[in-house]
Parts: sequence; C-alpha cells; structure tokens
Amino acid sequence: MTQLTDRLVLDFAADVRRDLALVPKQLQSKYLYDALGSSLFEAICRLPWYRITRAERRLLDAHASDIIERLTRDSGRAVPLIVELGCGSGEKLMILAEALQTAGRAGRVHLIDISSQALEQSERTLGRLHHVSVVGHRETYEVGLRQAAAHREHGNPMLVLLLGSNVGNFDTPAALGFLREIRAALAPGDFLLLGADLVKPERDLLLAYDDPLGVTAAFNRNLLVRINRELGGTFDIGAFAHRAIWNAAEHRIEMHLESLAAQSVSIDAAGLTVRFGRGERIWTESSYKYDERQIDTMGARAGFTIAEQWIDDEARFALTLFRAR
Ligand code: AVI
Repeated sequence: MTQLTDRLVLDFAADVRRDLALVPKQLQSKYLYDALGSSLFEAICRLPWYRITRAERRLLDAHASDIIERLTRDSGRAVPLIVELGCGSGEKLMILAEALQTAGRAGRVHLIDISSQALEQSERTLGRLHHVSVVGHRETYEVGLRQAAAHREHGNPMLVLLLGSNVGNFDTPAALGFLREIRAALAPGDFLLLGADLVKPERDLLLAYDDPLGVTAAFNRNLLVRINRELGGTFDIGAFAHRAIWNAAEHRIEMHLESLAAQSVSIDAAGLTVRFGRGERIWTESSYKYDERQIDTMGARAGFTIAEQWIDDEARFALTLFRAR
C-alpha cells in the first residue's frame, strides 16, 4: 500500500468509528465515491429523474464563452488557472476548456477529487487537449485547493469551479465556511463558478433521489460494501434499505440506510461492534436545495459579488458566476 492509501484508509476508519457513535448514526457522504460508487454516480447523472447534470450542461454550453471572456478580459496574455473541486468525469470542464481554445488562449487546469477513478477519467478526457496542462490532486477539496492555489503565478487569473450542486452536500454553516475558504485562496477579481440545485416540488426531488431503477439505492448501499471491503466490516447489505426523505424545514434531501432488523455489525479496522435496532437509520448524505436569494447572500457573506446568474427553468438549477471582492 502507498503511504497516501494508508493515510486515507486510517482517516476512513477513524471517521467511521466517530460517526457511527453519533445519535443518529451517520457516515460521511464523501465516502460514497470509491470506484464503484463513482460509476454509480455517473449512472445517476444519466437517469431521467436526476436532472442536475443535464441542466448544468445546458447552462455551460450556452454561457462558457461568456465565462471565459470575463476570466481573460483584463489579463493580457496571462495563462488562466482553472481549478475544479470534485471533477467527476471532466466533461463540464471540457466545455470551458473548449471555450478557452476558441478564444485562442492556453490554460492550466487543476482537478481535485477524492476518487482516483474520477481523476483518471477526467485527466484522460482533458489530456486530449493541447492548449491546457492538467494536474490532478487526489485530495479533499480543502487540501487540494491549497495545493492548486500554490501553483498560481502572479497576474494569472483564477477560476474555481464548484459544480454539480456539490455545495449542497455541505450543511449551511459548512457551505459558507467552504466558500470563505475558496475566497481566501483567490485574489480580488478572480472568479468562482457555483452550480446549485434549487428547491422544486417534493415529488420531483424524491424521484431524483429514490429512482425507480434503484441506482441511487445501490449508490447508497455501496457505502456498506466499501466498509466491508476496506475496513473488514460485516454489514449484511440486504438487511439495510435506502431511504430518501425531503426535509422541508431544512431545505434538504436526506439519504439514509435503514436497518431492516435488529442486528450487530463489527468493523475490524475501526475496532468497533455496532448494534442497530429495527428501523434505525444511518444518515449518509444531505443534499441542500437553494433559492436564488440564498445563493446571492451566501456568496456575499463569503466575500464575493455576483457577476452573472443563469437559471435553467426546466430543472430549476442555478449557475452563478461570482467575482472575488
Ligand atoms: C454529488 N452530489 C451533488 C449529488 C447530490 O445530488 O447531492 C450526490 C447524489 N446523491 C444522490 N444522488 C446524487
């Protein structure tokens, strides 16, 4: 095992140990993305009921040249640095990279993702381009962002991408804290492009997070498969059901894994035996949904002004270009 893999597994074991002792029991959503989890997430993005990815693509297709124009407007021939937090397959970044090419500009791209599979895939996608250099960081957003910002050369404009409503997986104070961290890595005049899903009717949200094909259920339950494989867990996967709940008061979809029987599970690497009552849940993910005003306010409180905001009315999704004050 490499040192990095060692460190990530130790962190995983420590987080699982801490979070399964909470009431209610929890597991962090970042651990949903091992190789299989990333593939299942890719499949979710293609489901007819999960509309975030297609809506964001439509907005990027329509406005990429505008975004690149704003990024490069005042920078002469300087080489822009684009950093994507949670790069997925790299397809969205590709739209911006192509707009960069159309504008006759070279660029540097840094990809940050906890999933090695996602990183490899997006490095392959972007590696086909000659006008951009690509660096991958298999890190959490926070660490990767610091590493990428350290590569910044004076005078080069910087654009950070937080797309796909990834911001929605942070709770409200953490989302604001994270936008502030992004702001701290930027200079005044740099940009943040934020994709955020908007509140919509409950039945649409439930279909998106509990789809009739069961792909989201497999994505959620795979977290237990991962614990069994990487940490020596004894979860009986069939004894846990996927639940998606719309928490209207908190504006969030919650994903849970519900124990279908009273049972105990041991997790060797975490030195843990956990008891579950019948119907007891593990809370595995929150996906916050915003309204336009909340997005503006959150950006302003983090030190940004809005340069542009585009809304996809069909899917109720917002793409906001913020400028660092
Ligand atoms: C990655 N993230 C923005 C997705 C979301 O919509 O919260 C993850 C996801 N969970 C279930 N389906 C998709």
